[in-house]
Amino acid sequence: SLNRLFAALLGLAIVTGAQAAEKIYQVASDAAYAPFESLDKKQVVVGFDVDVLTAAAAKGGFKVKFHNTPWEGIFATLPTGDRDIVASAVTITNERKQTMDFSDPYFEAKQLIGVNTNSPIKRFSDLKGKKVGVQTGTTGDEVVQKLLGKTSPNIKRFESTPLALQELLSGGVDAVVADNGVVVNFIANNKTAKLKTLDDPTFAKEYYGFAVKKGNKDLVAKINKGLATIKADGTYDKIYRKYFGN
Ligand code: ARG
Repeated sequence: SLNRLFAALLGLAIVTGAQAAEKIYQVASDAAYAPFESLDKKQVVVGFDVDVLTAAAAKGGFKVKFHNTPWEGIFATLPTGDRDIVASAVTITNERKQTMDFSDPYFEAKQLIGVNTNSPIKRFSDLKGKKVGVQTGTTGDEVVQKLLGKTSPNIKRFESTPLALQELLSGGVDAVVADNGVVVNFIANNKTAKLKTLDDPTFAKEYYGFAVKKGNKDLVAKINKGLATIKADGTYDKIYRKYFGN
């Protein structure tokens, strides 16, 4: 009967509405990347990216749940639908834009070279013929590939940036090239580590964005709305100061 059809449609509308309201976006972060994403004592993902995306979600009207996810394969979680967002200090690059979509930028970064304080290395070009540690598939990896060649045996690839920096401390590599914030944080938190950083004028500015499945315009719009709001109302600046000072 018509009544029953209406009842069924009403039920469907309620269920759909409830699901839409409860939808929680699943977020992938390689949580070995302080201060952007790391695990606290309770194994909860915390950091700058977490605070920014959580605040943006609150203002953009959506919910997020973070999952520690290895960097290698992290982008593959988007097309499979295992994760909806990658929040992992991801640099927006033209190459990545071919296979995923990005939010507006939320952080400016660049590469830095980490070396031991007594190292003879002074500049990027000095890395020729040296063993250089990078995190596999990062923009640091790409930058070093341009100098040493894609298949150079002198590029030592690690599954996390802290592992590469540990190897620098133990003398297994002569230098590490990685995002400035993470190298600086590692040195600051390892008081006994005799490491210093070198900048290079050839390193380009990089911008972090939140990555989503290619074509998910709805989610990008939600994230961007939230980002714009927290940038305008002072929330973003507050989070920035919490992690990076003034
Ligand atoms: N920004 C660099 C990139 O996009 C490194 C990011 C690594 N992030 C991480 N959580 N391990 O390639």
